[in-house]
Amino acid sequence: MPETLDPAAPGFARDPYPYYADLRSRGPAARVTLANGTHAWLVTGYDRARAVLADARFSNVPPQRAGRPRPDSPARRAQACLARHMLNSDAPDHLRLRRLTTAAFTPRRVDALRPRIEHLTDGLLTGLADTLAREGSADLVDAFAFPLPVLVIGEVLGVPEADRADLREWTYCVGSPADALAPGAADEAWAALHAYFSSLIAHKRRTPGEDLFSSLVHDAGEGGLSDEELLAMAFLLLFAGYETTMNLLASAALLLLTHPAELAAARAGGEAHWAAVAEETLRHASPLEGTTWRRTTEAVVLQDDDGRAEIPAGESVLVVLAAANRDPRHFPAPDAFRPARHLPGPGGRRPAPHLAFGHGPHFCPGARLARLEAAIALPRLFGALPHLRPAADPATLPYRPGLLVRGPRRLPVRNAPPAPPNG
Ligand code: HEM
Repeated sequence: MPETLDPAAPGFARDPYPYYADLRSRGPAARVTLANGTHAWLVTGYDRARAVLADARFSNVPPQRAGRPRPDSPARRAQACLARHMLNSDAPDHLRLRRLTTAAFTPRRVDALRPRIEHLTDGLLTGLADTLAREGSADLVDAFAFPLPVLVIGEVLGVPEADRADLREWTYCVGSPADALAPGAADEAWAALHAYFSSLIAHKRRTPGEDLFSSLVHDAGEGGLSDEELLAMAFLLLFAGYETTMNLLASAALLLLTHPAELAAARAGGEAHWAAVAEETLRHASPLEGTTWRRTTEAVVLQDDDGRAEIPAGESVLVVLAAANRDPRHFPAPDAFRPARHLPGPGGRRPAPHLAFGHGPHFCPGARLARLEAAIALPRLFGALPHLRPAADPATLPYRPGLLVRGPRRLPVRNAPPAPPNG
């Protein structure tokens, strides 16, 4: 086990699970040194993860940034605005922002998006099939897993169709590693998103639409959101919604391509089986590797059968969802990809719920939407491209660095029928 944890190391990014299993065996929380020289407490067991996420002594409010202030610019202002959202807040602020969001994301409103998501999925698949026929291979992340969630957030925010290409491009730029872009491109994209969302909010105040975001602008009456809060909310919905869902779709596709028997079972099993594939992907390849950082507001003692950890006040704590979801005490053979474990067992028995959408007050309000996207996208992808297969060795695919999100950065595929038998 390395003394220092480097989340950007390619080996760790691809397979962090043995490291987390080791940490889990050491007690309820382990203090690690990160490659940037800071320290953090990692919580990797399932029961302890749930307990910490429901415990108000672990705050979501980030500490004030120390050191020299960074120069002001439209991009910095956009990033600062993004930082003032509900995921970075505790009760009572959090409760107010959260109540409005859950009121906008009702099951009825989310389910009403189905025909639009189907339409967007089919449009992307037509483009992907053309690229595959023309060029022989394509990147499933770039051509499908990334654009679909961004387009769906466009629906949620009520972004007019004519502006969706811009939204996709700006999101791509702010989400890409800086060295993958021309100098200044990310800053320009941040500023463009900020300006665009500001004018979108002004427009929705004048002319509300049918979208979920319009209901956030208008439904709240007296306790409604200020323009600043709406701006932070638009950024949060975009970033909380696209990168996570992108990783869910990419990881599910990769797992099915590398587990042909599970793909065949899903094809034969219909809706319930596809839903089980999504649940097992969320557990086995949790798209959010860790929650956002928590900070102890006072000294906290955690104790369980594996030992005791005393975390002083003011320490950074990360609940590692990807590790909790592989805790053998709740998921037998945790490293195996077995969608059937989510189908009702004898007597309707179900396994422990996975923690991929978090737990407690910040539990993901977009869970139903993410599940709906997967339920539409996966069967349609494998239906439209029946001979889909990897075009690169899956064991060598690069993964996103860092402790927050987890998924393959690229997934090259082709759509080639099996070669006819010789003779
Ligand atoms: C597979 C897809 C998704 C996964 C795995 C996921 C996971 C999570 C998790 C684990 C949290 C809690 C983080 C924490 O406690 O620090 C969270 C919060 C959140 N998610 Fe999601 N999410 C997904 C999709 C979405 C979508 C599609 C939306 C909206 C369009 C969304 C909106 C949010 C928001 C607004 C929060 C903050 C809630 C709060 O602070 O109370 N998520 N998500």
